[in-house]
Amino acid sequence: MVRENHVRADELIYPLFATEGKTEPVAQMPGIMRFSSADLPGEVAKAAALGIKAVLLFGVPAHKDELGTGAYSDDGIVPRAIRAIKAAYPRMVVIADVCLCEYTSHGHCGAVGEDGRILNDATLPLLAKAAVAYAKAGADIVAPSDMMDGRVAAIRAALDAEGFEDIAIMSYSAKFASAYYGPFREAAGSAPKHGDRRTYQMDPANGREAVREVLADVAEGADFVIAKPAIAYLDVMKEIASATRLPVVAYNVSGEYSMVKAAAANGWIDEKRVVMENLVGMKRAGAKMIITYHALDAARWLREDGE
Ligand code: PBG
Ligand code: ZN
Repeated sequence: MVRENHVRADELIYPLFATEGKTEPVAQMPGIMRFSSADLPGEVAKAAALGIKAVLLFGVPAHKDELGTGAYSDDGIVPRAIRAIKAAYPRMVVIADVCLCEYTSHGHCGAVGEDGRILNDATLPLLAKAAVAYAKAGADIVAPSDMMDGRVAAIRAALDAEGFEDIAIMSYSAKFASAYYGPFREAAGSAPKHGDRRTYQMDPANGREAVREVLADVAEGADFVIAKPAIAYLDVMKEIASATRLPVVAYNVSGEYSMVKAAAANGWIDEKRVVMENLVGMKRAGAKMIITYHALDAARWLREDGE
């Protein structure tokens, strides 16, 4: 009765990798798979049966090019995955990650100029096209993770112009340049081939700047704001939650997941207790929803414990 925060299955968001290839495990993330479009609905069924209401989709395309065209083609891997999921489970909320890095040959989240610099403004129409392609395929929410400045406004304008004013934007507002994304980049094949993401993702030392990034996205029309990674940035989450009245979403990222799984596999920690402690810590810090690779396990434990 006096407990202040609860982890709930209907506030968990389950990330899914949709591959153009065959279904296969992600070596660095035990328990996580890349799913073919044919196998995705089966995994979504498991989530739905556990009371999970939303999935976050990432694409793993067979081909990459300089401008990441696979991200915004109507028959790209993510639109196909969205259609497969929505055909089987129309009530599952489908959130589509919007970025170029899984689709570009250089692995950066934006277009790259001749001098190797990231072209912020030239990237915006490409992201907007991707958001529209996912909306057309049936996504409920688009989630830009690229960290280009001005992309929420560009995406909002493009969605509205195409008649998708009901599609919401869940912006990765405070996204830090983090080594915790390592396993994800293996899973998605999206590591940059040259340089790093520090010209567009945030410096881990900057908490006040995170609030500024959030307020900019709110002004541009974001409907949800994501803070990421979660565990090393709970102070940032708390500040964000007091700076905006929008729902704050914690992204419990791949490296955070893999560290817990590795320690648990060695018998060094109690997996269930550590996972639930991490998740409730994010709630305590002000997160409303949590994106986590532990979603199925956590939902199952909550059910077993009658919560
Ligand atoms: C792509 C993207 C990344 C993540 C979500 N979207 C990786 C990155 O920025 O390099 C990280 C997710 C995770 O580590 O679980 N822009
Ligand atoms: Zn990216």
